[in-house]
Amino acid sequence: MHIPAITGTGVFTPQNVITNAELVAAFNAYVDLHNAENAEQIATGEIAAKEYSSEEFIVKASGINQRYVIDKEGVLDPTVMHPLLHQRQDDEPSLMAEMGLDAARKALNMAGKSASDVDLVICAASNMERAYPAVAIEIQQLLGIRGFAFDMNVACSSATFGIQAAADMVKSGSISSALVINPEICSAHLEWRDRDCHFIFGDVATATLIERAEDARGPYFEIKSTRCATDFSNNIRNNNGYLRRSRPAGMADRRDMQFMQNGRKVFKEVLPMVSDHIAAHMQEDGVGADDLKRLWLHQANKTMNDFIGRKVLGRTPAPSEQPNILQDYANTSSAGSIIAFSKYSSDLEDGDKGLICSFGAGYSVGSVLVEKHG
Ligand code: COA
Repeated sequence: MHIPAITGTGVFTPQNVITNAELVAAFNAYVDLHNAENAEQIATGEIAAKEYSSEEFIVKASGINQRYVIDKEGVLDPTVMHPLLHQRQDDEPSLMAEMGLDAARKALNMAGKSASDVDLVICAASNMERAYPAVAIEIQQLLGIRGFAFDMNVACSSATFGIQAAADMVKSGSISSALVINPEICSAHLEWRDRDCHFIFGDVATATLIERAEDARGPYFEIKSTRCATDFSNNIRNNNGYLRRSRPAGMADRRDMQFMQNGRKVFKEVLPMVSDHIAAHMQEDGVGADDLKRLWLHQANKTMNDFIGRKVLGRTPAPSEQPNILQDYANTSSAGSIIAFSKYSSDLEDGDKGLICSFGAGYSVGSVLVEKHG
């Protein structure tokens, strides 16, 4: 048996930022347009008038101040309200592959490794740009990696589930190293015309290099253990899929073809699931609250993270113990906890322990207990 370790991480951040002020201005302009265009049906009660969004609500409900996106022109155009991305030709790299490649190169660079050191690429994300061939195989080819690659989707928990799969393969000896890559173009599945959720998501890509600890060339995080769990729920759901064309009204501009959630229920049901999951994982490994130097949580909502931090540590964590990045990036689905880990882990000392945890649709929750070496 080998000891798996995280030896490098990388983050690709798009150049465009949308602040809450820009977002709300565009949304409210869209509301005016929508209500004017549908004045008659609104007057007869056939459809409801749309209501304005507000910056105060967004910050209070989520803790988000801004988000990075691949395209902001389309999102902020009140007559469009979604990103406008150019059609990639079949001989061009796909967008997810391009973003993932940048993050992967940063992770390899941090570890002092090259593509020839890698045996496996897992592209783990909430959405895939096409049905097939796998985006992971395209990234594998672009990097020049031998071995194999595959895509997986466990929504917001994709990164930790991918890390568990890779770590188990490193442990057993079937591979010596893997890149787990999480390109998340959340702006493309977010319904920017719905004030209940239009502020939630941003775009990003992260990559994590997992190797045998004995192959590390610098400081690394030993993966002590991992734990994944799922429990079916419809409270976060997106009905878009390949059967769309075959169904009545399947191609219509339907609300359920984008991200849908029952936010209140998610809040109520996911919090205990995650807190209990982490507590059980720590207990199983004999790790007490005082042994944990850091929590890198999924980045969906500040109140949620504050609650989980308090439950896990039994006290209010200092901001440095449970770093949030959601104020800058918003919810970036599976990539969120890895951005936090990537940006806030280098200061830990030899022997310090921490826990990465992601959770979301499915429901799903995954946790990775790590210990710094070097
Ligand atoms: N601007 C102003 N008001 C808004 C608004 C906006 N953008 N969006 C909603 N409101 C209104 C609602 O209509 C509601 O009005 P009402 O009380 O008159 O009905 C009120 O504000 C409260 O809305 P609600 O949806 O209950 O807010 P909330 O405090 O529950 O926060 C979420 C909403 C989505 C931020 C919160 O439920 C949440 O974070 N849930 C979990 C999210 C999550 O982690 N999802 C995982 C995704 S991977």
